[in-house]
Amino acid sequence: MRRRTGQPIELTPGAGDLPAQLFLAKAMNGAKTEAKRSTINWMDVLWLAFLAGLALLPPIEETHKQEILLGFGVIQLAEGWLVARWPSRGPICVVLWKIALATILVDHTGEVAINSYYYPIYFLPILTAAEYFGPWATLFWTSLSSAAYCSYLYPALQDFEITAEDYGRLAIRILFFYLAAMVVNRFVVENRRQTQRYQELAETLAVTNRQLEQAQAEARRSERLAALGQLSAGLAHEIRNPLGVIKGSAEMLSQKLGQSDPLATELAGYISSETNRLSGLVTRFLDFARPLHAELSPQAITVVLDRALSDVATLWKGATVQVEKHYQPDLPLVELDESLCEQAFLNLIKNAYDAMSANGGRLQVRVAKSEAGERQGVEVRIEDTGPGIPRELREQIFNPFVTTKKDGVGLGLSIVSKIIDGHHGSMRVEDASQGDGKQGTGACFVVFFPAAEGSKPVAEPAHAVIS
Ligand SMILES: Nc1ncnc2c1ncn2[C@@H]1O[C@H](COP(=O)(O)OP(=O)(O)O)[C@@H](O)[C@H]1O
Ligand SMILES: [Mg+2]
Repeated sequence: MRRRTGQPIELTPGAGDLPAQLFLAKAMNGAKTEAKRSTINWMDVLWLAFLAGLALLPPIEETHKQEILLGFGVIQLAEGWLVARWPSRGPICVVLWKIALATILVDHTGEVAINSYYYPIYFLPILTAAEYFGPWATLFWTSLSSAAYCSYLYPALQDFEITAEDYGRLAIRILFFYLAAMVVNRFVVENRRQTQRYQELAETLAVTNRQLEQAQAEARRSERLAALGQLSAGLAHEIRNPLGVIKGSAEMLSQKLGQSDPLATELAGYISSETNRLSGLVTRFLDFARPLHAELSPQAITVVLDRALSDVATLWKGATVQVEKHYQPDLPLVELDESLCEQAFLNLIKNAYDAMSANGGRLQVRVAKSEAGERQGVEVRIEDTGPGIPRELREQIFNPFVTTKKDGVGLGLSIVSKIIDGHHGSMRVEDASQGDGKQGTGACFVVFFPAAEGSKPVAEPAHAVIS
């Protein structure tokens, strides 16, 4: 650059006039998280040391320069607080202030502002922007800083003649601004992405941990229940023998007494009937506690279902229950243990009848092809018009000894779920739906049985029977 009067002045070459550490320190600081910035840390102290170093370099006498450096120090210390307080506006304010201070500093440190040795001070706002913003915003702030610096071209042009070489040097400085901004921004963005990835990973781990704890708790509960079941099964077995003796004795007593002592005969009758009840309970409990040995063979499920339906209907003594059967044609065969499966259906159908015992009702039994996940199979829906099952009870009713009936034992559904497990099937309970799709009041038990491997559909006509 040449003074129009003729004295040659050169644009200061290179970007290394400020200590290189300033640049690096800013870049490293960019990797710190925003959370860390809310307190004064050793990085801030380092910054102040750099600014103090700049203050000791010429021009020392220039008080404005020292004041501006002080301003930088204040902004640097307040930056963390500002950004923590106003996460969206804080960084904008900080960058704007730094651009303004850098522009004034350049003006006060060179005879010709654009020629100032302090022009790398623009790295401060540029790297701050790279630290807080995304790539586009960083480009914007870098352009603004470059424009602020280039604005000193105008006064320079008044007094000097600027050569193509000078323009080239200026362009190199500006390009270095962009280079530094993009490198640091890439580093910061990558760092942010990594942090987010670690956070997501930590959240996933926390969820897995919770699931593991839950599974462990369930396993402990199952172990306790299994131990309790074994103990109770042993006890029930031992109770059965004396019960047999008591029952036999009561019957003999009743025969011996005949009509001679009606009161004693009546009491002996009570002993006998109550012993029968106890014995029945113990037998059912033993059925539940005993390990299940299902002997599976491919069979038509509707045959077993029909048998269970007619068994319950024959023994039923309550109000009238209308039974509707809807069986889909061409159902595949199912791997079944006939007697266990019949027992499961008996329990479900008996429960449905019990639920409608007061006023009678309609029992709908539907069998259709179905899928559970990848498995093909058959779905049996047993739906009644009784009072239904409250939602809060729906999980519990499958636990042993949960009953709402006066004379119930609460083992029926636990036996059913054990049998279904033994058939590799699944069971759920839903609200009954009326024929028109609206929700009904009753309960609907849905049982899924997987189809037998390679089973051909049973050629059986569809039927909707009402009995
Ligand atoms: N179809 C149904 N409608 C309404 N409630 C039902 C039905 N099936 C089962 N329940 C409820 O589930 C409870 C448990 O049934 P279960 O295990 O068979 O034992 P129990 O029949 O001895 O009570 C029943 O007491 C009843 O409250
Ligand atoms: Mg029952």
